[in-house]
Amino acid sequence: MTMTSIACNDQRGLIFLDPAAYTDQEGWHAVAADLRDNAPVLRVEAEGYTPFWAVTRYEDVFDVSRHNERFLNTRNSVLGPDVQLEMLTGMGIEPKTLIHMDGEEHRQHRGLANAWFRPRAVSQRQAAIDAIAEQFVAKFRDLGGRCDFAQDIAVPYTLRVIMSIFGVPEEDEATMLRLTQGIFGAADPEYLGDLSDPFALLTGTIAEFEEYFNQLAADRRAHPADDLATVIANGTVGGCPMDRDATLWYFTIVATAGHDTTSFALSGGLEALLRRPEQVRLLQQDPGLVANATEEMIRWTSPVRHFLRYLTEPAVLSGVEVPAGDRLLLSYPSANRDERVFSDPMRFDVTRSNANRTLAFGGGEHFCLGSTFARREIRTILPKLLAAVDEIALDGEPEHAQANFVGGVKHLPVVATFR
Ligand code: HEM
Repeated sequence: MTMTSIACNDQRGLIFLDPAAYTDQEGWHAVAADLRDNAPVLRVEAEGYTPFWAVTRYEDVFDVSRHNERFLNTRNSVLGPDVQLEMLTGMGIEPKTLIHMDGEEHRQHRGLANAWFRPRAVSQRQAAIDAIAEQFVAKFRDLGGRCDFAQDIAVPYTLRVIMSIFGVPEEDEATMLRLTQGIFGAADPEYLGDLSDPFALLTGTIAEFEEYFNQLAADRRAHPADDLATVIANGTVGGCPMDRDATLWYFTIVATAGHDTTSFALSGGLEALLRRPEQVRLLQQDPGLVANATEEMIRWTSPVRHFLRYLTEPAVLSGVEVPAGDRLLLSYPSANRDERVFSDPMRFDVTRSNANRTLAFGGGEHFCLGSTFARREIRTILPKLLAAVDEIALDGEPEHAQANFVGGVKHLPVVATFR
């Protein structure tokens, strides 16, 4: 596995820092397995980064996630070079989404959009999700049964589902996609375009989001509609309207968190399936397995690679004492391959009995708001796709995004014979 040249006290810690490390999944998971066995709470000191403790075992990630009063989220909840945060601060940009809040403030803000994400609300949208899924299966057929499943199907499909509840019109979806990739994919050369500086891409993206969402908010205040954008634009917290910044960041998290994550789970999950043709046949014979297969795809891919938490008091995790004030990196991909919980964890198995114990959606107060949508999107398109084809197989080598926050398979060449 090739590693970045960042100076680090323990080379193994680089798997969390180096965006390119995630492109070699086998190599990445080999290092993570070693850490779980030999250094489950590893202190990482890297040049240019505030030190952190990498937490790799399932039980520790689970425990920390559930004790939100002791392990806080802050504005620095995602790993990045210190200089990046300093520069953002210098420009007056202070990210403050649900992910960056704690306690009552977090509960009140989350409460605003919660109703839209409950299982009942998602079920009410099933017919719309069905229709969008069918449209994309037809697109695959129209492409002659050969496509880059990630870019042609998974990305636009998951984007359209979320944007349809959000209320962003179809003609603006390409802009939403570009802006999301500007935030999540700033480390991947493919998304840099003409810019050589990831920071310039990030700040430029934030500015564009601001402009777009200010207009959207103004429109929904003047013309309320039955969509999530209207709820956010007119939202009140503690009896007062949300301020301009809080509104913008709310728009930003809902617009960005929903589709890249889910599309990576879908593409990476399909890759895993296609590498085991007997599992494809199993699903084709018994569509009742689709729900469990979805859990396994999400466990397997863990598209969100980490979040950070801060200790309000000293804590002991897997026998390691971590002082108050330090920060922890919760490694979801590692927790989801922990052999203490998942037997033979490096095997992709749609019949795995406890696949739904996945920690890919985190836990506790910040448990992914959109998990029901994410699951539903995959569960909806997968059986439609498998029912439409006789044969489906990889048509070349998949390519992984270089990203240490949200990532996965970004190109997935697939060929299928439609019925
Ligand atoms: C497979 C797909 C997805 C994965 C793996 C995923 C993963 C996560 C994770 C790990 C967290 C943080 C949990 C924690 O800190 O304990 C999170 C939070 C969040 N997710 Fe997702 N997510 C996915 C899909 C979605 C979708 C479809 C939406 C819809 C908009 C969404 C919206 C959010 C929001 C708003 C938060 C912040 C919640 C909070 O801090 O209270 N996610 N997600």
